[in-house]
Amino acid sequence: MSLNGQTAVVTGANCGLGRSVAELLARAGAHVTMVCRNRERGEQARAGVQRAGAAAGAEVRLELADLSRQTEVRALAGRLAASLPAIDVLVNNAGVWLHRRQLSTGGFELMFATNYLSHFLLTHRLLDPLTAGRGRVVNVGSHAHRYGDLRRAGLEAIARGEAWRRGFEAYGNSKLGNILFTFESVRRWGERGITANTLHPGTLATRIWRGNLSPRARLMGMTRSLLPRPEVGARAVMRLVDDPARDDVTGRYFKLEREESAHVQAYDTDLARQLWERSLEWTAET
Ligand SMILES: NC(=O)c1ccc[n+]([C@@H]2O[C@H](COP(=O)([O-])OP(=O)(O)OC[C@H]3O[C@@H](n4cnc5c(N)ncnc54)[C@H](OP(=O)(O)O)[C@@H]3O)[C@@H](O)[C@H]2O)c1
Repeated sequence: MSLNGQTAVVTGANCGLGRSVAELLARAGAHVTMVCRNRERGEQARAGVQRAGAAAGAEVRLELADLSRQTEVRALAGRLAASLPAIDVLVNNAGVWLHRRQLSTGGFELMFATNYLSHFLLTHRLLDPLTAGRGRVVNVGSHAHRYGDLRRAGLEAIARGEAWRRGFEAYGNSKLGNILFTFESVRRWGERGITANTLHPGTLATRIWRGNLSPRARLMGMTRSLLPRPEVGARAVMRLVDDPARDDVTGRYFKLEREESAHVQAYDTDLARQLWERSLEWTAET
């Protein structure tokens, strides 16, 4: 599969996994839009990715949005849809891992809002360009979805952070949301030719735990130098969008490059339908 000249959008692209994915896409000749929330960090990363993709003729653009704010996601989607009539690859990657309950401006638990709901909304708003392009969607999940439990309390209480117990469980809930969304989107949008897969990118040497004071995050911080580089996870993302053998693969969960079964709740179609319908209400989508 040649990505040369194809159009790709990557969220959370200024560092870590997203930056690495953007770089590999650009090296493969794709025109990449990097979605970041901070202009300075974003511009610095964009310049680096542009340099990496220069030999392949990649054009690299920066779009700014704080994805935890739905007004910014809608504005972002509007700009993307206006400037990109066809989107070949969408990597919904941005994410946070917090140890304390925090709420977004819209009143959602911040990891739920950033990791899951923003990407639900963004992908909905990009349906037309995804349908017009190859429409290969990768939702970055995590092994931690196994610590989530979207059946323990009502979806509303989980989304609003009212059922909060532990940071890692709430992070797991947001990632379980990504996986349920992936599988349900295949049932709803498969006929449009859009594929969607999700993966655990490995435990990587990134800054995901910065500001997270939980013992688990402190341990990750201390062992960071021993962890694989983000490129390892980025190569697994790339296989899902540029390997001809994976072009028809859809609705699957991978641990790096190997397909695995996800947590049993990820296959609960009733839960997936409920989450989808509630997410439409939470985002005021139709
Ligand atoms: N690292 C791991 O071991 C691991 C394991 C499993 C899954 N993952 C997943 O991999 C993805 C990438 O994480 P990473 O490890 O590369 O961490 P990272 O280096 O911290 O990157 C996270 C990216 O998301 C962006 N982001 C966070 N909140 C945002 C918001 N409200 N609006 C816009 N962008 C926002 C960050 O921007 P700023 O720089 O501005 O904060 C950054 O670009 C996440 O979905 C994470 O859950 C990571």
